[in-house]
Amino acid sequence: MSDMRTLGEFIVEKQHEYPSASGELSSLLSSIRLAAKIVNREINKAGLADITGAFGGENVQGEEQQKLDVYANEKFKAAMAARDQVCGVASEEEDDAVIFDTELGRNAKYVILMDPLDGSSNIDVNVSVGTIFSIYRRVSPIGQPATMEDFLQPGNRQVAAGYIIYGSSTMLVYTTGNGVHGFTYDPSIGAFCLSHENMTIPQDGKIYSINEGNYIRFPLGVKKYIKYCQENEPTDGRPYTSRYIGSLVSDFHRNMLKGGLYLYPSTAAYPSGKLRLLYECNPMAFIIEQAGGKASDGAQRIMDIKPTELHQRVPFFVGSTHMVEKVEEFLENFPDEE
Ligand code: AHG
Ligand code: MN
Ligand code: MN
Ligand code: MN
Repeated sequence: MSDMRTLGEFIVEKQHEYPSASGELSSLLSSIRLAAKIVNREINKAGLADITGAFGGENVQGEEQQKLDVYANEKFKAAMAARDQVCGVASEEEDDAVIFDTELGRNAKYVILMDPLDGSSNIDVNVSVGTIFSIYRRVSPIGQPATMEDFLQPGNRQVAAGYIIYGSSTMLVYTTGNGVHGFTYDPSIGAFCLSHENMTIPQDGKIYSINEGNYIRFPLGVKKYIKYCQENEPTDGRPYTSRYIGSLVSDFHRNMLKGGLYLYPSTAAYPSGKLRLLYECNPMAFIIEQAGGKASDGAQRIMDIKPTELHQRVPFFVGSTHMVEKVEEFLENFPDEE
């Protein structure tokens, strides 16, 4: 018990790692922690309270919004608005960026991009869901409302990123660019406690995660790679195991702990891939690189892509370094014929 550290304590302890932020980043992470606890409480009773099912609207992605998508979005947004460090929020569930045009907001230094509830189609069937967040320092002048420029920064400018997984236990995993740390929620004391310090992903893995129902329209290189994973080659552990939950956060978390590759390539329904660069791919890319892995769109590093729009989608390959390199090799060697 004596060496148990809560997320709050850990953040204070690590504050020297980002001195220029002078406590602001710590305060921001604290508000994320609070919103996570509130959303966790609702998710835990999802089968009992009237919070499962569709909300009755569509988001800008053309997806049917679930009640918990809306709930989580409101809670995280409110937590950010209440802090004087945040000048604006962009979210999967908001058509446009939400700019905090108040005295505090205009003088705040950070923008947050988030997927308030990831894997929301899984909520009604009691399967793990998540929240993803990404934090940037604004580039527009302080004292004015945040601008699009603040939100459309490449992932390599992130100052922090993380996710919450509402799973068999609830965990918060984050990085500020000095490794990846995981905290498990202890509901009896209402605190996230350090359980996974300095998380790293194995360089090689034996799990591949992809929605194979879309196979027919995958790029040729991805089809060939999947067959490669299925070949019988005991010397290097093949055939690999296929695991796909359908919640990015959960698939990512498992693969980070065990070693593996998550793939969401272009498909018939999603010619540029389904996942969103700014609030799904970039934060996960920052985390995986900090854990020693890799994230690519098939040809280039995710975090080097210069975004052009808020809800931009991108093919996504993330996980163990050697597995990402392998699938890139297949994509290069087997280009699609035009
Ligand atoms: P969200 O619930 O935030 O819209 O994200 C859904 C994403 C991601 O969580 C998951 O990995 C992927 O969509 C699953 O897509 P498919 O159902 O097409 O496999
Ligand atoms: Mn969605
Ligand atoms: Mn998502
Ligand atoms: Mn979502």
